[in-house]
Amino acid sequence: MELIFIVSLLSIAGIAMSFPKDLQPITTVGLEDSQLFPSFQGLVSDNDTQTLGLDFQRMIRINYMLYVAARSANQLSFNYHNTFTETVVDFVNQPFISETLTWMSTDVEKCTMRGKNTDECYNYIKVLVLRNDETLFACGTNAFNPTCRNYRLSSLEQVGVELVGQARCPFESHQANVGIFAGGQFYSATMSDFQASDAVIYRSLGGEGSPVLRSIKYDSKWLREPQFVHAIEYGSYVYIFFSEIAVESMALGKVMYSRVARVCKNDSGGSARVLERYWTSFLKARLNCSVPGESIFYFDVLQSISNVIQINQRPAVVGVFTTQKNSIPGSAVCGFYMDEIERVFRGRFKEQKGTDSAWSAVPEEQVPKPR
Ligand SMILES: *[C@@H]1O[C@H](CO)[C@@H](O)[C@H](O)[C@H]1NC(C)=O
Ligand SMILES: *[C@@H]1O[C@H](CO)[C@@H](O)[C@H](O)[C@H]1NC(C)=O
Ligand SMILES: *[C@@H]1O[C@H](CO)[C@@H](O)[C@H](O)[C@H]1NC(C)=O
Repeated sequence: MELIFIVSLLSIAGIAMSFPKDLQPITTVGLEDSQLFPSFQGLVSDNDTQTLGLDFQRMIRINYMLYVAARSANQLSFNYHNTFTETVVDFVNQPFISETLTWMSTDVEKCTMRGKNTDECYNYIKVLVLRNDETLFACGTNAFNPTCRNYRLSSLEQVGVELVGQARCPFESHQANVGIFAGGQFYSATMSDFQASDAVIYRSLGGEGSPVLRSIKYDSKWLREPQFVHAIEYGSYVYIFFSEIAVESMALGKVMYSRVARVCKNDSGGSARVLERYWTSFLKARLNCSVPGESIFYFDVLQSISNVIQINQRPAVVGVFTTQKNSIPGSAVCGFYMDEIERVFRGRFKEQKGTDSAWSAVPEEQVPKPR
């Protein structure tokens, strides 16, 4: 039983009759100016990081500390409290690094034997999130053996034992993934296997009484070759933003659509008869970033999206979208009010029946309760 619904969202921009012009930026900063600002250049001593463009994978700011995760190595934390009070900081030659930590992959030999690209036989840190007030949670690809650890925030000392990183962290550095703690549980969206064929939205680490849940395996109605972009906690839900191949538009070839998916934080999974250990609250909707008119022009590929911010005193998210890969290049910024997104999830419920990938509205009396 798949019950997923999809309805387009209106963008905040509203109706514009002509194609929008490229707006004048408030300010622009050229290379000469940007060089005056602190920058992180990875492990300068490491030959590969710069050539491969893998200086770092993750960065989070907690209070006045910036945590940067680089390949194999490192979480470097910079105390940047002082740096922004000065205008010119030579971050590279005089870094304000307060702690450096090295987490090398242990299985490099086995990894090279598996015959995969040896550039991947390192530990790429793909998850770096705050677990609670005292703990950082980090996962790395660990030479195709994803692994997670907890670190004490204050000292970067490891706490407890390593955890299996599968379904929490991808196997390869270039795969897009997201992770977030909400209500003490870890929500991850990632490829969960060596072949990168099993995309999953997964919840774990909730302890007793909170089952591990996932999306159904290899079911393109749930997810089809997704590129995960961001996850946020909002109200009773966790929202996951991504783009994926639109199964409903396969007639047009492989086109990407952007989506927002939602799960309930209090989802406890199905019963032994149906959806056991799977989400029972998973819904998704299309993010419509377009220029309306007689023929609508869509920016369908989400590249990046903000956390919840206030626009017109209403909670909203703002995303950067591009056109399809093989289309005329273009990009746009679209905003979505969170109450509009919630309204869409209360709106018409649609499902895909059988092998037919078209979405069709479900009669009101057949809409599952709760959704
Ligand atoms: C997207 O939004 C535009 C303008 O608001 C609307 O005209 C169009 O029908 C929407 N597209 C879909 C697929 O709902
Ligand atoms: C880094 O590159 C230099 C110059 O090409 C080379 O001499 C050195 O051996 C390389 N170091 C490593 C660790 O590969
Ligand atoms: C779970 O949360 C939803 C949304 O807040 C609420 O409507 C529902 O009653 C809750 N269900 C349980 C079993 O607590």
